[in-house]
Amino acid sequence: MITQKIHLKAPDNWVNDPNGFIYYKGYYHIFYQYFPYAPRWGTMHWGHAVSKDLVTWEHRGIALFPTKKEDQNGCFSGSAIEKDGTMHLVYTGVRYEDADPEDIHVCRADHLKSAQLMISSEDGFYFDNWADKRVIIPPLSDSPVGHPADTRDPKIWRGKDAWYLIVGSRTEDSQGQVLFYRSEDLSTWKYVNKAAKSPSFGWMWECPDYFETEGGSVLLLSVMGASLDGPSRSCHGNNHNICFPVKFQEDTCEMTIPDTWQFLDCGLDLYAAQTTVDEAGRRIMTAWLRMPEAAEAGWIGMFCPPRVVEVKDGHVYFRMHPNVQKAYSREITEPSQASPAGYRVCMNLSEGEEADIGGFLIRREDGHIYTDRTAVCPGNKDVLLTACTPKIMEGTQLEILVDENMVEVFINHGEYVVSQAVYHLGKWVRGGSSTVLYSA
Ligand code: FRU
Repeated sequence: MITQKIHLKAPDNWVNDPNGFIYYKGYYHIFYQYFPYAPRWGTMHWGHAVSKDLVTWEHRGIALFPTKKEDQNGCFSGSAIEKDGTMHLVYTGVRYEDADPEDIHVCRADHLKSAQLMISSEDGFYFDNWADKRVIIPPLSDSPVGHPADTRDPKIWRGKDAWYLIVGSRTEDSQGQVLFYRSEDLSTWKYVNKAAKSPSFGWMWECPDYFETEGGSVLLLSVMGASLDGPSRSCHGNNHNICFPVKFQEDTCEMTIPDTWQFLDCGLDLYAAQTTVDEAGRRIMTAWLRMPEAAEAGWIGMFCPPRVVEVKDGHVYFRMHPNVQKAYSREITEPSQASPAGYRVCMNLSEGEEADIGGFLIRREDGHIYTDRTAVCPGNKDVLLTACTPKIMEGTQLEILVDENMVEVFINHGEYVVSQAVYHLGKWVRGGSSTVLYSA
């Protein structure tokens, strides 16, 4: 069994989105999109990892794999819910109508059908892939509701008097949208409503997530091909993970999405975030950190350690989870003393100052934080290297998690976070002031 500390990474080959994130019967479960045959995307399985504390993760192999006509070409993203002690997973099954004859793991020209399926488990570990899969929402063929191929990634939550499901989709004329369904019993689902914005928010919305917090309700979206004005861009085909403070009306499933939005992370790689509630009742989020290329050991794809999501005055904060913070508590004087799980750096960075974390540069200028990974990322014309936050509102504090493949810069306790995949970081920390390092 592979065990990993703090940074959950592909056990081998390829991973993308986190799925079915849930705290269930004493374990945190993160399932994930997994291609077990090569370090590239292909027929999707659900890999599975568990943790008792969000710090030590154990890979548990494959939980879901194609067995039915409806998911014969992949078990795409989805979510988990607990009802009466049973874990239920809901996901998108895909069936290619035109698989590439030279590579059956790829579909030609988007000729596929997507259905939403459910499967359950009494312990969260064993899933009967042959006998227990049920189609809960069949492909939307010729339906004015959503797109038959591009409707995917159902997220379920419990509302006041029913279960609700939000699923990503697009309109016939290629504008991103989300669809809402309601169920009284988790098995019969009725379409109720949809929500969309303007075409600048992309042609397809993936991996939606909706939740309520004390400070307000939030919609997370992974938008494809968006032309969003903002200081940070994505190096992945303008596919961004963004969030909105929203209003949602349960009886009509009407969602009001404002014009105000934020990047979930101001770095270049974070995508397909999903949230759940932790043991202490906090809303927590993890996401896929896309990597420009495979790590030396031949695997590709990883997840950011869970962050606590809070809303204050309409701003969505992504704070370092206290378990993760506490896991780095041994004070060290230089990175070479750190354990393999990396280290945490606390420092202040004032206007005009620069910090250098093993070649990863962080600069504060005109009230923005700029990062530059040129020295620690493979050079390739498609890979963006620099990022920038909006203007910082609150202070000069940085808390940085440093792992050999990932740097995460938390600015003022999560006012903004900048996360980036990196390679071959040097073992030094320079610049900033009042700098303290902690190892795991
Ligand atoms: C997002 C995504 C999802 C889909 C999955 C397939 O990265 O495209 O929409 O379910 O990946 O692996």
